[in-house]
Parts: sequence; structure tokens; C-alpha cells
Amino acid sequence: MSLIYHSYSEYYDLVFSDRSFESEIDEILMFSKKAVNEPVFCDMRCGTALHLAELSERGHPVVGVDYSEAMVNLARDRLSDYESATVIQSSDKNVDISPRPNVITNLFSSICHTLSDTGLQAVFHNYWQNLQLGGLLILDMTKLSAVPEILEGVDSGEKYWLRTNVNPVSETIYEFSREYKINTDDEPVTFRDEFTLRYFQPEELASILRETGFEILKIQHTLGDLENRLVIVARAVSETDI
Ligand SMILES: C[S@@+](CC[C@H](N)C(=O)[O-])C[C@H]1O[C@@H](n2cnc3c(N)ncnc32)[C@H](O)[C@@H]1O
Repeated sequence: MSLIYHSYSEYYDLVFSDRSFESEIDEILMFSKKAVNEPVFCDMRCGTALHLAELSERGHPVVGVDYSEAMVNLARDRLSDYESATVIQSSDKNVDISPRPNVITNLFSSICHTLSDTGLQAVFHNYWQNLQLGGLLILDMTKLSAVPEILEGVDSGEKYWLRTNVNPVSETIYEFSREYKINTDDEPVTFRDEFTLRYFQPEELASILRETGFEILKIQHTLGDLENRLVIVARAVSETDI
């Protein structure tokens, strides 16, 4: 289990503060409302619950799942004003959600933390078991061809400075090393982290999804205002349809 998010969970929102969730959520809601009457969301690998807060604000019941205690604490704080929002600390490979959601999301390249096909099969199998039949799975990640181009380099804002180096280990697996400097009111905080992610050709994920009980509805390369994405929308079908 990766512990990287423990080291900088409290700065996660600051570093990713220029993301616009409204347009992502607009599109996720559009997909969902076409497929189900009243969407009940579960965001797997929810991090600090940025997407779930936007869904809650719009009146939807939500559950978040994340295995990092630090991220879960931040997510619970963020959602504390919403009665129909809960956050479960668990790996998404064995979490059991009750009542069952009819939309599962996995956003912002969180699925890329799972490096092996067998790991992905276990994760998608568990998503299938948790989803109501006919429910939707929406996956969003950076597009493979854009990884070095958009993820390497220096990024900075008023409150932070971040340098990312990307080292390809294979055609789809990349090692990242990052240096952070966070400007606080006192001394700046500096730290580093290293992690490995796998990015995907659309068909790699699509075939594992089909094996685990999903029908692919849509593959596209934007989500709201975000570009250079691989977004897969799939539906849980009955075992006899597989
Ligand atoms: C890149 S962050 C994305 C968070 C969030 N989805 C967002 O859009 O900001 C990835 C998150 O996935 C969580 N994570 C990675 N693998 C996981 C797993 N197998 N089960 C549960 N959480 C996981 C990490 O703890 C981290 O919070």
C-alpha cells in the first residue's frame, strides 16, 4: 500500500487548487442521469473529497472510499455539513458498500495506482459487486500519450512550488519523483515523494472491464474542461450477459 498521500495530504488541495470540479461534475451528472433515475454516488479513491463535496452541494447522496487515513480525515471534515455523505477508510478491492450505489467513479488518475492486470481485475470485480445492476462506472485518468508532456516540469502558485520528474520504466509504467516547497506563514515546508503509476491504452482497460462484467458505453478524451484525458464510461451487466 502506498503511503505517499500521508506525507502531503494536508497540502493536496493547495497543489491542485486550480482544478475546476464544476465542469467535471456537470458531465458526470449528464452521463449518470442518462443511465439511472436517481444517482447515488460512490467515489473510489476519493482523496480529500473534492468531487464528492460538489455532488453533495447539488443534493446527491455520496459515499467516498480511500485507504489513506490522512485523506479520509480531510474528506470527512470537508463533508461534515452534508447528512447524506459518508467516507469509508478501506482499500477499494474489498470494500462492501451498503446500500449499493448506482454510479461508481474513480477520478483524476487514481486507478493508475494499480499496476498489474490481476490487481485491476480484483478492483473492477469488486466495483461490479458493489454496483446495482445496470449501474455506471466512470473512470478518468491522464491519457497515456500526454503523460511526459503534461506531467513533467515545474508548476508553481503563490503558495507552492512543485517540480516533477518522470522516468519511463516501460511503455505504460512511469516512475515519478517530486519535490515540493509550500510557503506557509512561518518557514517554508519542503518535502519529496516518489511513486509509480501505470497509464493505459483504452483497449487494455476496456478488455479487463469486459472480463469483469462491464459493457463499455463511451470512451472520450476530455472531462468537463479537462483535456488529454482517458475517460471510460461502462455499465454493470448481468453475469449471463458477460
Ligand atoms: C491522485 S489521488 C486522487 C484523489 C481524488 N480522486 C481527486 O480527484 O483528487 C489518489 C487517491 O487514491 C487513494 N488510493 C490509491 N489506491 C487505493 C486503493 N486501492 N484503495 C483505496 N484508495 C486508494 C490514495 O490514498 C489517494 O487518496
